[in-house]
Amino acid sequence: MTKDQLRQRLEFYQDLGIKTVYRRSTTSHQPPVTVPVPIPNPQSPIPALEPAQDSLLKILGDIGDCKRCRLHEARNKIVFGSGNDQARLVFVGEGPGADEDQQGLPFVGRAGQLLTQMIEGTAAKEGIPIKRADVYICNVVKCRPPENRTPQPDEMEICGQFLYRQLQSIKPKAICALGGTAAKALLGATEGVTRLRGKWHSWHDIQLMVTFHPSYLLRPYNQNAKKEAWEDLKKVLHYVYD
Ligand code: URA
Repeated sequence: MTKDQLRQRLEFYQDLGIKTVYRRSTTSHQPPVTVPVPIPNPQSPIPALEPAQDSLLKILGDIGDCKRCRLHEARNKIVFGSGNDQARLVFVGEGPGADEDQQGLPFVGRAGQLLTQMIEGTAAKEGIPIKRADVYICNVVKCRPPENRTPQPDEMEICGQFLYRQLQSIKPKAICALGGTAAKALLGATEGVTRLRGKWHSWHDIQLMVTFHPSYLLRPYNQNAKKEAWEDLKKVLHYVYD
């Protein structure tokens, strides 16, 4: 692996919210221990790590080259999540689209640009000094569903264990569920977003707000919903950062 490739890999880990990378030490007669090193083992696609506490890196390692459900068949990259691993606010979307599947990062396509605008625009207007990089963003399923179809219940359940661990590891002050699939995965909700949005719910004692998915807001006939989504976001940002 060249230095450039190594740098790119480290930057990618940073994007995922992973600041420290570990490599397994196998020297001496002692049992193997994990020691922090500044660079990952270039031989291993996922660095070995066995911390007592769960962490994003441990979860990423456990996902590995996941083939637990049919979504692995057509995926290009697993989209784990990105942002601050100590974020006070986590956004949860549905699943990667084509751009995300290419880059391995969540919300980088058109819907992602709108989400960035929503976060940074609302924060700036409300005098809250945060950027997208200050929050954490992930999805219910980590692999792109073919043709961007809605994830199926078994896919959500299998991948949901990793979402659960991500949220428990970050322990944010609030979660914002983007759209009906995230609301269903986190709340078990059967009602639509229109009914759920705008009020506080709870996920394992963490305050949770449901709002419209940015992809929904991009459709020209849904422009009225934009105002409501901005109101929801205002509520979330003030609750988290005031
Ligand atoms: N839509 C999602 O739900 N997640 C993404 O990462 C991108 C688009």
